Amino acid sequence: MAHEHSWVPQIQATDRLSAALYEAMTAWIDPAAHATVLDIGCGPGGLLPYLADAAPRTHIVGADHDDESLDAARSLVASLELGDRVLVEHGDALDPGSQPGPFDLVIARKMAHHLPDQVDGLRMLAARLSPRGRLIVGEGGLPTSCLPFELGHGRPGLMSRLEAAESARFTGMRRELEHPVTSRYGWNVVLESAGLVVEETKSFLWDVPAPVSDEARTHIRSTLQHHLTGDTRQYLNDEDAATLEWLLDAANPDGVDHRRDLFILGASTLYRCALPAS
Ligand SMILES: C[S@@+](CC[C@H](N)C(=O)[O-])C[C@H]1O[C@@H](n2cnc3c(N)ncnc32)[C@H](O)[C@@H]1O
Repeated sequence: MAHEHSWVPQIQATDRLSAALYEAMTAWIDPAAHATVLDIGCGPGGLLPYLADAAPRTHIVGADHDDESLDAARSLVASLELGDRVLVEHGDALDPGSQPGPFDLVIARKMAHHLPDQVDGLRMLAARLSPRGRLIVGEGGLPTSCLPFELGHGRPGLMSRLEAAESARFTGMRRELEHPVTSRYGWNVVLESAGLVVEETKSFLWDVPAPVSDEARTHIRSTLQHHLTGDTRQYLNDEDAATLEWLLDAANPDGVDHRRDLFILGASTLYRCALPAS
């Protein structure tokens, strides 16, 4: 993927702060009910330790098409000493030859939104399922907030304007894909269009309340820094950019390094899908 900066450290920081979220999602996914699992678009592999822990007899493959993500996932898995129970491999959701399966469970979290034609891509993932297999797709939910409405500087409600700017960046990113197909519907309909039966949908909170740990504070700082210096900046007006600079000023007693009212709150939606009964 062409990004203006690497997203891998940002995703790894998210992973480290998401233990409760990943435990809850893994309990719902129930990997132990399946003999073989593919986590496609696994990124730096944050979910793999939770899957492995919950399903000691399941063979798990994490796959991604990005080398930096694969290196990070491989180091993480190596540190867990799980032997060949968890493998990390190069794989492309759009290449039916990579990890052809069949798998009893395929997980694709925050991956399908990268695909130029999501319906087609999901159909290709469904083709890797065993006849009674399940596909878990993680997409949508609620945008993640970290700032209170009133900051004491600039126009109130900066967080919702950052979310709007982030949505605009995402739309711009999709437009730059080769032959993007714009979806006209939400994910349940997209999944049905790919020939899947949506059995159950559940959303999980990412909830790190104030006051946050140093690790969460560092993550919030780097997220805001990316908004200020990355592709999102073009969708922010100068007043909001100046407020971000004020927040990121280490000498500011009301900046992110000192505030006691920072938090992390978001939600991730998971869809459990089956193949239609034949
Ligand atoms: C936002 S990250 C999500 C990582 C992880 N699944 C998570 O939930 O944190 C999206 C990942 O999907 C991968 N990806 C995007 N398109 C892909 C494709 N066609 N095949 C394999 N991986 C892909 C990217 O390289 C990236 O690591």
